[in-house]
Amino acid sequence: MTCIDNLSRGTRYHLAPHMGVSGFRFIEGDVLDPSALAHAFRSSDIEAVFHFAGRSAIHGIAASPPADLQDTFCTTFALLMKMREQRIQNLVFASSAAVYGNDSSTATDARLPVRPVSMYAAAKLASEAFISAFATSAGIRSWIFRLANLVGPGVTQGILHDFVDRLLLDPTRLRVLGHRSSRRPYLHVADALDAIMLAYLSTRDGELVKAFNLGAKTMLDVAQVAEIVAAEMGLAGIPIEFAQDAPAATGDIRSLSCDVSRIESLGWQCHRSSEEAIRAAVHEHLAWRCDTIGASAAPGDSFAAVTSATRTK
Ligand SMILES: NC(=O)c1ccc[n+]([C@@H]2O[C@H](COP(=O)([O-])OP(=O)(O)OC[C@H]3O[C@@H](n4cnc5c(N)ncnc54)[C@H](O)[C@@H]3O)[C@@H](O)[C@H]2O)c1
Repeated sequence: MTCIDNLSRGTRYHLAPHMGVSGFRFIEGDVLDPSALAHAFRSSDIEAVFHFAGRSAIHGIAASPPADLQDTFCTTFALLMKMREQRIQNLVFASSAAVYGNDSSTATDARLPVRPVSMYAAAKLASEAFISAFATSAGIRSWIFRLANLVGPGVTQGILHDFVDRLLLDPTRLRVLGHRSSRRPYLHVADALDAIMLAYLSTRDGELVKAFNLGAKTMLDVAQVAEIVAAEMGLAGIPIEFAQDAPAATGDIRSLSCDVSRIESLGWQCHRSSEEAIRAAVHEHLAWRCDTIGASAAPGDSFAAVTSATRTK
């Protein structure tokens, strides 16, 4: 297996368990760099491409339409061109439930009202369109997963990271940006990967392009996530302050739910509720932060160690 990542967001910490494993090859390179891509595709018997590269920062100073186009759409196009050139037959693509815009509560896999409200979501939807066209013209069989709010090892951004990092810097209170009642499902990456591999291995027949919603079955509002994160860090009861109780920022989706009946019909079960996924992910994120700053990750005192190391940096 070959993994190519430019490490713009990915980290060596998350790659470490795979480094040195027989058959695993890591290339630090950009999918948009033809020589790095050629290096990654040098083998003549590649069974499938799993395309998870993308750029999901859509707010504030991180918002950048050209960057969304490059990292979320152009990476897809570059990979499709390479696959066609080398006659690679199978593509797994990490799309997003964000393609539904604010209509997700009524969306099903069969009828898809798609109205993206962020450049990121538009780039995902454009990627899906090109995947569909390449399926017809180049016979590339594709599995599209519209993911909703991943948490867990390897995920490098999102509400959970924001809350944990804020509490590491100031454990006396948690300031929250955004609308307290925004409700979303939170899916642990382990459950997501189970679903992706199940669909990939069990649905080779039928339509060339298959789209699946992937999300947890339970939902949490922002206030609940804040309380769970604080409790897992041993800070239950600290003040949680909402900086604004206003409509969601541009590009944000106020509430999101998704119908996962298609993936469930293959036998997938989501093993963790949103709450269980968040609880596990808090400790997985703290372990990463401990490693980043060289603090002790001993069970039970990891928060204290990270907190004191973070504040003295
Ligand atoms: N995390 C979520 O909640 C969520 C929800 C819906 C969809 N997704 C999608 O799932 C995928 C994985 O999500 P994630 O949260 O792990 O995101 P992430 O940002 O942590 O991972 C994306 C990876 O792509 C790499 N990358 C970006 N541009 C690249 C380029 N031009 N060349 C090579 N590597 C590049 C980054 O370094 C990073 O390792 C992404 O495509 C994301 O858009 C994630």
